[in-house]
Amino acid sequence: MKGAVDLQDRFKREINYLRVSVTDRCNLRCRYCMPADGVALSGCRDVLTLEEIARLVACAAGLGVNKVRLTGGEPLVRKGLVKLVERIREIAGIAEIALTTNGILLSGHAGELKAAGLDRVNISLDTMNPRKFRYITRRGDLDRVREGIGAALAAGLAPVKLNMVVMKGFNDDEVLDFARLTLERPLHVRFVELMPIGESDREGFLPLSLVRERIAGHFGLIPRKNVPGNGPAEYCAIPGAMGSIGFIAAMSHRFCNHCNRLRLTTDGKLRPCLQKEAEVDVMPLLRNGADDGALREAFRRAAAAKPGGHDMELNGWGCQPRKMFQIGG
Ligand code: 5AD
Ligand code: SF4
Repeated sequence: MKGAVDLQDRFKREINYLRVSVTDRCNLRCRYCMPADGVALSGCRDVLTLEEIARLVACAAGLGVNKVRLTGGEPLVRKGLVKLVERIREIAGIAEIALTTNGILLSGHAGELKAAGLDRVNISLDTMNPRKFRYITRRGDLDRVREGIGAALAAGLAPVKLNMVVMKGFNDDEVLDFARLTLERPLHVRFVELMPIGESDREGFLPLSLVRERIAGHFGLIPRKNVPGNGPAEYCAIPGAMGSIGFIAAMSHRFCNHCNRLRLTTDGKLRPCLQKEAEVDVMPLLRNGADDGALREAFRRAAAAKPGGHDMELNGWGCQPRKMFQIGG
């Protein structure tokens, strides 16, 4: 259906993937993500409406974007999310809609999300110990996430992926338990390297090579191709397992040269790179009656502004003003 990809950056990377942060609110307060005393959230007027989001996705689709991910904050706290999925599903050219969620509200919504046209989910889960879960999220109930995972599998929101941010001294003792989750259910567990974004602490950084060695030493690991996805994870599997194991090593392995994405923030900014502050503001265009041509031009400008890669190693910890819950992970 769709024509050639029409969004390209200066490095000839084709942009076919849009990550949309539908809210900067969250029902958790993960310690590495949000400060304890809360955050200044966008007011209602500064937040894209669902209609505006759908219009922007349609423009992006006109430029060859065929995959959309809804993120947050926590996307399931945004009212009308199911409707938004329905709207996006109707847009010609969008082949895949995915959701990144903390899973707390998922069990109540998995079925209707699937019916609305959601294809798959990534669920963030850093520990399987209820006490540690409450500690790291400052409030969460692990059982709700467990139920959410079950509901996602039951609803067929496949492949169901779990993202675990590995933090030295906090959850690195659980990596074998997480790997074990892939044995008997089609769960795809991805280990994520802690990045110097948000409130994260350098002390927690653990290179994923060590995690991989530990899992390979215990279970053996074989390469696994064809896990559907858009991004930077490198997949393997325990022999005979139903699911797979992925590694997202943003810091120790730069995968920027394959980057295919743009981000749209809650307050209507197209963000060329997770880590760079350069943004193209589409809110004034939307609210001043710009036509689709002007919006497409904004997408092209954002693509043109993509850097070759991040330099988080150089910038180090604590330097990024925009937080993860504002950018959408
Ligand atoms: N480093 C790595 N991952 C992070 N996330 C949030 N902050 C960080 C960070 N500093 C993850 C969340 C979630 C996803 C959206 O981003 O745990 O899985
Ligand atoms: Fe919420 Fe995700 Fe941030 Fe945790 S990491 S506070 S779940 S946005």
